[in-house]
Amino acid sequence: MEILRTVAELRQWSREERNDGGNTIGLVPTMGALHAGHASLIRAACDSVGYVAVSIFVNPTQFGPNEDFARYPRTFEADCALAKAEGADVIFAPAVEELYPDGAATFVEVEGLSQRLDGASRPGHFRGVATVVAKLLIASEADRAFFGQKDAAQVAVLRRMVADLRLAAEIVVCPIVREPDGLALSSRNIYLSQTERTQSLALSRAVRQVEALAAVGERCSRELIEAARQIFAAEADLRVDYIELVNWATLKPVEIAAPGSLFAVAAWVGATRLIDNTIFA
Ligand code: PAF
Repeated sequence: MEILRTVAELRQWSREERNDGGNTIGLVPTMGALHAGHASLIRAACDSVGYVAVSIFVNPTQFGPNEDFARYPRTFEADCALAKAEGADVIFAPAVEELYPDGAATFVEVEGLSQRLDGASRPGHFRGVATVVAKLLIASEADRAFFGQKDAAQVAVLRRMVADLRLAAEIVVCPIVREPDGLALSSRNIYLSQTERTQSLALSRAVRQVEALAAVGERCSRELIEAARQIFAAEADLRVDYIELVNWATLKPVEIAAPGSLFAVAAWVGATRLIDNTIFA
């Protein structure tokens, strides 16, 4: 499988494949450390477009000064093997200077949304995400880009960005992939000690509890948030970042859940920040 390193190579690949019989192009943007959640995105892409590029780029601009950029897991060989096994056609793995040339001063800021949910506790995070995804979409000229529902706030920011910039790509959202015990897959799960791994189950328990209440008709934000809060309260060493019921498009809180509302949680388990969510039917 070919590994492309420059924007020019990615653009040329995309144009050649598209012209070869009018094929569609899919992009699966990742930061590497691929797991079964990423595999599901690559499979979804392969099922829906003609050719699939997987980008592997640990994007420095979406990490805060005290976050884990330096120690973020980098497993390039294994990532390439997984992407190939799942049917990807090329890997795009640029150097930092390729996406952020010397003197780079252009950023994409999705105002409002970028300050909500994860954006509230990670200032600048969504600016970095929007900037790098805009660069990747423009470079790849993708028809569809595939993201996991686990990063639901990221999805809201990117949908807004694509609509505002009138980018051609369609954002496709794929279901959360979970461990058998419920923990949502994340590249950061490898940071968890055995004790923390057990504590981390509070997130999926809270989400499941909210889904159970929703199934019997509970729609009140206060009740749903309180139910989740009680589950977190049982884990003394876990620090809640947020528990919110929001409109998925605006990320603004809602009092009553409606179809499409997003119930999302984030919590610190030791030094690791984890997220999880569910979308109301
Ligand atoms: O979700 C991620 O892994 C990253 O935020 C993304 C979309 C690849 C941008 O760096």
